[in-house]
Amino acid sequence: MKMHLIKENAIVVTKTAHTAEEFIQKKIELLKDEVEPFFAVDLEDICNKHIRWLTSMPRVTPHYAIKCNDDINVIKLLAYLGAGFDCASKGEIKKVMDLGVSADRIIYANPCKQSSYIRYAHEVGVDVMTFDNEQELLKIKQCHSNAKLVLRLVTDDSNAVCRFSMKFGADMNTARKLIDKAQELDMEIIGVSFHCGSGQMTSKAFVDAIQNARMIMNYGNKLGFTMKLLDLGGGFPGNTGTEEYFAEIASAVNATIDEHFPENENVRIIAEPGRYYVASAYTLATNVIASREMIDPETGAVKYMYYINDGVYGSFNCVLYDHYVPEPCLFDKNKSNDSYTSSIWGPTCDGLDCIQTSIQLPKLEIGDWIYWKNMGAYTISAAVQFNGLPFGKPLYFMSKQFWTSVKAAFQTAPRRYHIDASILRLNSTDCSNEVEDDMLPWLPEDFAEDTTVVTIQ
Ligand SMILES: Cc1ncc(COP(=O)(O)O)c(C=O)c1O
Repeated sequence: MKMHLIKENAIVVTKTAHTAEEFIQKKIELLKDEVEPFFAVDLEDICNKHIRWLTSMPRVTPHYAIKCNDDINVIKLLAYLGAGFDCASKGEIKKVMDLGVSADRIIYANPCKQSSYIRYAHEVGVDVMTFDNEQELLKIKQCHSNAKLVLRLVTDDSNAVCRFSMKFGADMNTARKLIDKAQELDMEIIGVSFHCGSGQMTSKAFVDAIQNARMIMNYGNKLGFTMKLLDLGGGFPGNTGTEEYFAEIASAVNATIDEHFPENENVRIIAEPGRYYVASAYTLATNVIASREMIDPETGAVKYMYYINDGVYGSFNCVLYDHYVPEPCLFDKNKSNDSYTSSIWGPTCDGLDCIQTSIQLPKLEIGDWIYWKNMGAYTISAAVQFNGLPFGKPLYFMSKQFWTSVKAAFQTAPRRYHIDASILRLNSTDCSNEVEDDMLPWLPEDFAEDTTVVTIQ
């Protein structure tokens, strides 16, 4: 692999496929003194996830939940591939619409919204939004005359890693009362949504929630509403190795929607996957910037503390907020049969900034690299530069071969959505002439200045 200079934020188009490990290794070889953390973002992985979604659940249109990872290139790529979007705020709606995505591809899926944001949604034409209580209904009535309401139901999320039902969702009785109230207020309810919890561990949670949605939609239809939208929320797994479990959820969802929402009823079915799309595509590379050797007072054994250049205030905030236990991976040169009890710490001055409290590792030196897989979900979207320290910056890669075939596939398949080509099309880059103009059509003309598209052999 011959590589040109790769700048931060570059999209690297390779001739053939490469793994994230190969890619990181290549980037490291090119580094001189600069050792900032970076992500190798496998854009092929994101395309493959989308293809797997469309083929596994053909009746369910994904609306990517951008809160999970609001990386502009992920949004652009998914916009190009025809996904919709789940936005939680004015800022997210603006971010997606500024890229040329039309309002009808967005669901404002936050049941408790600030009034001014509801007015903003009205202004820009985002009409579909969730709610789960009467106060929200009254607020929406005042701020958005065309709102198309989606009633969020509570779920049993006891088997999820991150639970939401203590905060959101109407129970079945409340849901019926809310429909009555909406009728009294002359407001339009178009369907039902739910979220089974992020990192949901059982497919039964989806089955039960779809059945509940059916009952509530029947109630609404009886009162004269036209219930035409079912929103399955998020909670689909996205780490490498969860493919089988995803297939199990997909098959349970397909069977349940076919039973309760047969195609001839023309109910539009969507979902709001977040981690599914991005978790496995991001591999984080970090550098050991300091280390301490200690003697265990009880056993007399040598232990090591390693300090790396990204931590729980940066990309590893998933350790605190997403209950994630990241696993360190080493390159061949660091692998050995010796192992010592070790802990891994972030770079800030805070004692809470600990990534691994106890793990067996070979002895590492300052300057060695540790990489971490499955780091795309709920990482950079909540990271801050505490102590003035940067966190991982994305560096994207994709093979030309792959992109050519994806493009061909999506050009022949009918797209569900109109793509605003003038905004999404790439006009010029500083790449070598190996990359055609339409190679990366989701890139806008006003792409960040420090972005380069380069090719590698
Ligand atoms: C309303 C809503 N939809 C979708 C998601 C995405 O969930 P996941 O990343 O588990 O797919 C979330 C996550 O917080 C959410 O709150």
